[in-house]
This record gives sequence, structure tokens and C-alpha cells, in this order.
Amino acid sequence: MSRIALEQVTCAWGETKGVDRVSLSIAPGSFVVLLGPSGCGKSTTLRLIAGLETASEGSILIDGRDVTQASPSERGVSMVFQNYALFPHLNVAENILFGLKVRKVERAERARRLAWAAELTGLEPYLQRKPSQLSGGQRQRVALARAIVAQHPVCLMDEPLSNLDAKLRQTMRAELRALQRRLGLTVVYVTHDQIEAMAMADHVFLMNGGRIEQAGTPEELYSRPLTPFVARFIGTPPMNLIPLSANGGGIEIEGGVSVVGSAGAAGGDWLVGVRPEDLHLAEAEGLPAEVESSEYHGADTIVAARCGEALLQVRLPRLTRMAPGERIHVRWRAEDMHLFERSSERRAEAPLRFAWME
Ligand SMILES: Nc1ncnc2c1ncn2[C@@H]1O[C@H](COP(=O)(O)OP(=O)(O)OP(=O)(O)O)[C@@H](O)[C@H]1O
Ligand SMILES: [Mg+2]
Repeated sequence: MSRIALEQVTCAWGETKGVDRVSLSIAPGSFVVLLGPSGCGKSTTLRLIAGLETASEGSILIDGRDVTQASPSERGVSMVFQNYALFPHLNVAENILFGLKVRKVERAERARRLAWAAELTGLEPYLQRKPSQLSGGQRQRVALARAIVAQHPVCLMDEPLSNLDAKLRQTMRAELRALQRRLGLTVVYVTHDQIEAMAMADHVFLMNGGRIEQAGTPEELYSRPLTPFVARFIGTPPMNLIPLSANGGGIEIEGGVSVVGSAGAAGGDWLVGVRPEDLHLAEAEGLPAEVESSEYHGADTIVAARCGEALLQVRLPRLTRMAPGERIHVRWRAEDMHLFERSSERRAEAPLRFAWME
């Protein structure tokens, strides 16, 4: 079993820092997701663990062993790349076994592992085909089979499902997760898709600008985002963030909806965060807003409504008809409200309340 640890790792090319003082610890046998927008340093972090990139500072440990300077082959990890990197002139069986041949694993053992991996990935009928004769999902399975025949305890995956259509992605997500559990693998999985991260991860590291913005279980990131960035990155549609402004001695949302706050909360330097699914329509008491558009998704309708500067997204059940220009009131429960300090961009626990909250 392998515990992976990064301690204050930086990876820089001249002035550019791909990864900036990142520390993380990955429990053995867990499925961990590196999540974040394009360019935030996910692939670089993965390549640092694999040994394909060298740390400028800090150290990397696998199983307590310092591998910061070790070559990729000394680290006991396998990797699945986004484009699968299959050899077009080799058939499926040869592709799967390529690494074992290079490592001079003997013939009988190769045959045994091929049979095992082909069965696990459902590739038995395709072993003689070339990659060009396979569907995207089948190619993905070949890349996976090639990674697992190595029988390394750690598997690193860089956006392995991004070439597949939405339906196949969903099936493969479940298959991958089941395989990881069955083999007890430690998987580090890179994606920019928060839905994929929420669905698959035991633990998520959400990255932003080369640093870890927040780490936690999917549930922790959803229910207690520590910054507005996390609040907006996790959840679809993203969390509404409503700026408050100071008015005389009090605080209000632009448009004159006053907030009952204690002295410590004054100053107006706040963002109120409420998820679209936590907003409810109210008869009169609530935040007044004007409907701009609505989108019907089947299970729900997403209504966009303007309140001062803020365009609020409200998730309503099933088909809820709303015309542009319609005036509505929305409210939310105190426990569903997230507060952030605007200057520090940090989560805050201020005693702010709206008049309609009991
Ligand atoms: N070899 C390199 N030389 C200089 N800069 C690099 C190099 N490799 C990556 N970078 C920069 O480091 C940053 C992080 O890149 P990385 O590939 O880790 O992003 P990513 O999170 O995987 O993004 P994506 O989702 O687009 O794949 C980017 O700004 C990128 O331009
Ligand atoms: Mg990448």
C-alpha cells in the first residue's frame, strides 16, 4: 500500500510556476481527484508524482521513501494519459504487454497478466485488433489494462475520460471506481470536471493558480467552501454570490433590502452565498427579483432573476413556468447561507440575518 506525500513542492520554469508550494497527502487505497480550471497545475502535479517533471523545491515521498530525484521507473507508479498514447502498429494484446516486455517479465507471467487484465476490462474479444479498429471507450480500456498489468500499487490518470461522450463517461466512471476498489489501487485522477470529481472522489484537491485552494471530501467542498472560488467551482449551476454594501449604520443588498447584522458585521464588506437549490420562492417576504430567463431541464427549471447587480440562479422543481419580467421574491434558510469576506476572500462566520429568517 502506498501513501503519497508532497511537501512544499514547487515546479518552476524560469518565472513561470506550474505548481507553487503544494503540500498534500494521499491515503493508501484511496481515489483522489486533482480538480481545477485549465492551467491550474493539475497535470504538472501528476507528472511530478510520476517523475516526468522535476521539483524545483520541496520533496515527494511514496511509501515514506523520498523519490524527489528518483526516475519514473523507480517510483512504482503507472500512468494513463489523456490521449491514451497507444502504439497504432501494435495490436491490443501487444499494447497491453509492451511495458512488461521492456521490463523483461517472463513469457508465462505476461500471458497470465494479460488474461487477467483483459478479463477485468472486458477486452478479451479484441486482443488481436489494432487501436484504429476500436471505439473510444475500448481504447480507453486498453490504456487502463496497460496500466494495471504493471501491478503497481499507484495509478495516475490524467483526464482519462475526456475523449468519450457523456453517456460512456458515466459508465466508465463507475467501472473505473469499481476496478480501483477491487484491486485496492491508490488512484490520483486529474479532471477539470467537478461533476466527475464529486461522483468519483474519496478526497478532492481543488487547485487554483498552482496552489491548493481547498482539500476535502466532495461533501465538505460542497457544504463548506472556504473561498468564493470554491463556492463557484463546485456545484452546477454555481453558487449565487450577492455583494452587500454599507448603508448608513446598516448593511443592505443593492435595491434596499436591509440586513439585520450585529456591530461586528458592519462595513458591508461581504458576499452572501446561496446555492440555486437552496433558494425558494416566497409570497412577499424575501429578496425581490425580476425574472430574465428560464431554462427547463426536465427534472428542474433554472430561473435567472435580477436583483440589483446580481443575477440570481434559482433551481425550481420540474416544469415551473416563468415569463421574463415577472416579479418574484426569493428567500433561504439561515443554515443554507454562506458568507465570505470580500477583502480577504475567506469564509466568515458573521451574525448576519435577513428580516425573513426566523
Ligand atoms: N514545460 C513547461 N514550460 C513552461 N510552462 C509550463 C510547462 N508545462 C506547464 N506549464 C505551465 O504551467 C501551468 C500549469 O500547467 P498544467 O499543465 O499543470 O495545467 P492543467 O491544470 O493540467 O491544465 P489543463 O486542464 O488545461 O490540462 C500552465 O500555466 C502552463 O502553461
Ligand atoms: Mg492538464
